[in-house]
Amino acid sequence: MESLRIDNTGKLIVSGMQQANGILEISGAKNSVLPIMAACILTDEKIILRNVPDISDVNTMIEILESSGKTVNRVKDTLYIEKSEKINSEIPYEPVRKMRASFNVYGPLTVINKISKVALPGGCSLGARPVNFHIDGLMKLGIESKIEHGFVYGKIKPIEKSEVHISLDFPSVGATEHILTTATLIDGVKTIINNCAMEPEIDDLANFLNKMGANIEGIGTSKIIIHGVKKLHGIDYKVIPDRIEAGTFIIMGALIGKNLTIKNINAEHLESLFSKLDEMNIEYNLKGNEVKISSSLNKKLNATIIDTAPYPGFPTDLQSQMMVLCSLIDGRTTIKENIFSNRLSIIDELNRMGANIKAENNNLAIVDGVRFLSGAPVQATDLRSSAALLLAALVAEGETIINNVDHIFRGYEKIEEKLKNVGIKIEYYE
Ligand code: EPU
Repeated sequence: MESLRIDNTGKLIVSGMQQANGILEISGAKNSVLPIMAACILTDEKIILRNVPDISDVNTMIEILESSGKTVNRVKDTLYIEKSEKINSEIPYEPVRKMRASFNVYGPLTVINKISKVALPGGCSLGARPVNFHIDGLMKLGIESKIEHGFVYGKIKPIEKSEVHISLDFPSVGATEHILTTATLIDGVKTIINNCAMEPEIDDLANFLNKMGANIEGIGTSKIIIHGVKKLHGIDYKVIPDRIEAGTFIIMGALIGKNLTIKNINAEHLESLFSKLDEMNIEYNLKGNEVKISSSLNKKLNATIIDTAPYPGFPTDLQSQMMVLCSLIDGRTTIKENIFSNRLSIIDELNRMGANIKAENNNLAIVDGVRFLSGAPVQATDLRSSAALLLAALVAEGETIINNVDHIFRGYEKIEEKLKNVGIKIEYYE
């Protein structure tokens, strides 16, 4: 199992039984902008990226781009990414250890510099998270990788084939993005990725690359075809809204909303969440790109079955937040985590708050609804468990102290300010 990569820091003190009333705006998608930033290595020209959330993962990717030889300037939610004098083929351990998505620079860097040395990635503590699909796929594109002392050394050689077939054993988001991005500049070669991931963030990345001059077909399907081109150009691009931030706040609305309006969502990307809420009898009012929601906890709600799955299935990134909601619904809900082996660690923490949840076989949570949760000191272990514990704290009776909460700043932009705008007070201590 991967060890915790984020130092044990940050504490939130949250009074319970708060209400969310007002308007909350969703930021740009973390999981789009990170691979898109990595793809910027593929051009010397200027890239302007809009709707970029101000979160620590983006800052980590800025550090990585800077160590690759880019200059990056931020003005509000816009990044200006340009080439600097220095070209570097080595990305050191320090920024890479913080975030798994940083590994997505490896392929592009090797294509551009012919050789590269990139530290093996870290990220949330989510069980074993290998990069074998990445390495195997890139090998078919001519990139030979050698792993030594925690670094991956890459070297690219021209391939003889004009058509490359890659079939992923599992539709990995990161591997699909990494191979897709790298293949765009394997000039004259047609790459076919089968059983690839279909997450909206992959469509966003592919649309970004096509706008730069790449030739990608099959966007939004499980078979993507990339016709390698010689050169990619600078562009101006706006990132899609973050469906996981939106989903987190929608679940918060179902718990403690009072006419809470969540703006700038893409409802199509949230279909699996909305259909689950329908099944549970949770009311919301969806119109275009906004949703209004109030607490449903005073109604008769239905327990359910949640199975996380690759998109369009129910996202693992909303599993912990849903567990909080289900812990307060009469009857038995079962939640099966099928993507990451270590994403049920929140169970012990929710039980400390009075929930009644049992873990089975490391990937199944059996949630028996209780009438209320009560505040307690708890410990977050990753980004989404931090968010879920915050939701639990807001609905609980009494005060909760969430330790090790700094993970939350990796993925939720200006969370204190956004919550304050809807009448919620949380206190953060470093
Ligand atoms: N896997 C392998 N070998 C590989 C790659 C993946 O065995 O080479 C396995 C993983 O161990 C895991 C499964 O495949 O069991 C899925 O991993 P995937 O590669 O799809 O995930 P990821 O690219 O590492 C992205 C998101 C995650 C999100 C997952 C699943 C980014 C930057 N990260 O991770 O987001 O949970 O897809 O949807 O896009 C988060 O935002 O909190 C987060 C963790």
